[in-house]
Amino acid sequence: MKKIARAHTNIALIKYWGKQNAALRIPLMSSLSMTLDAFYTDTYLEPSQQEQFYLNGKLIEGPEAQRVFNYLHLLQRRYGKSGNLSVHSQNHVPTAAGLASSSSAFAALAAAFAEYYQLAVNETELSRMARLGSGSASRSVFGGFAVWQKGTDDQSSFAYSLDSNPDLDLQLLAVEINTGAKKRSSTKGMQAAQTSPFFAPWIKRNSLELSQMINAIKNHDFTRIGQLAELNASEMHAVNLTAQPGFTYFEPTTIGVIQLVHEMRQNGIEVYYTIDAGPNVKLLCQLKNVKIVKEKLVSAFDHVKIINASFGPGIQYLDNYELD
Ligand code: ADP
Ligand code: DP6
Repeated sequence: MKKIARAHTNIALIKYWGKQNAALRIPLMSSLSMTLDAFYTDTYLEPSQQEQFYLNGKLIEGPEAQRVFNYLHLLQRRYGKSGNLSVHSQNHVPTAAGLASSSSAFAALAAAFAEYYQLAVNETELSRMARLGSGSASRSVFGGFAVWQKGTDDQSSFAYSLDSNPDLDLQLLAVEINTGAKKRSSTKGMQAAQTSPFFAPWIKRNSLELSQMINAIKNHDFTRIGQLAELNASEMHAVNLTAQPGFTYFEPTTIGVIQLVHEMRQNGIEVYYTIDAGPNVKLLCQLKNVKIVKEKLVSAFDHVKIINASFGPGIQYLDNYELD
């Protein structure tokens, strides 16, 4: 029976934004993320005469499809497999908009590959496989909080579960400002960021920021988690702005939401932001503040869509299910 692999996206609270080895996607820094329940990708593979990639029911050609086929060829070489495959995938997340579609996409693809060839791989191995497709996908193998230890080579660079089912009141509000595909992929953005004079000093701070975040999570300290996540995201966007030449994923509304977050905090509403490689903002708050934060956003920006998320699970395999 055909099984479908489902992976949820994750949002990094300590970001991955640079590679020591581009081909193997070995990062320059360790990262930590929260897997989200609201956004996910479903994928299955089929034998086929010709390689084909269907995303959301549409045949995809060009560089997006090539990235998928190159990845499958790499896995086939590693595991001694061959044959043409067609990929069927459904994103329940906007594609390439800075809402982490590549994290759920390549975790689901790695799991679909393991399922198709019935590989006996454990979660660590699956995380390594996912990493080869997109770095952030290494963390989507796990639910709750995951840490991707940077390592030094293929064997030592994988994610592990920090807490698969956290007993913590942490809500994420995804503020969708523009869900169109971005012009500069994460892969290209992180390469360009390395030209910033602040890149090296930022990398030096990584082990400190990671250990502070792990402690905050262990202490169930929402305030500290929010402060550290906001600082780390701001550092990432500062290195983009100060790259040579500089660039940014921000749009005017992105700045507007950041200013509103500052204003809300001044007025006693505890909310923090984090932002990935796109204009959309993710807000971190507690359940008691979800309603008021949404109201403030809607009254300030009538065109934004807000999606509520909390902790999501790791990889799942679904029976008897058709992609919709
Ligand atoms: P995002 O912010 O969405 O993670 P990225 O630039 O990191 O954006 O990655 C987007 C790329 O991931 C897409 O251009 C495409 O190549 C790939 N991708 C997205 N969804 C899928 C999918 N379901 N299956 C395979 N590849 C996908
Ligand atoms: C800003 O994992 O998409 O979301 O490995 O080149 O595919 P590639 O990059 P990708 O980058 C994610 C960047 C980020 C931060 C993060 O998720 O850690």
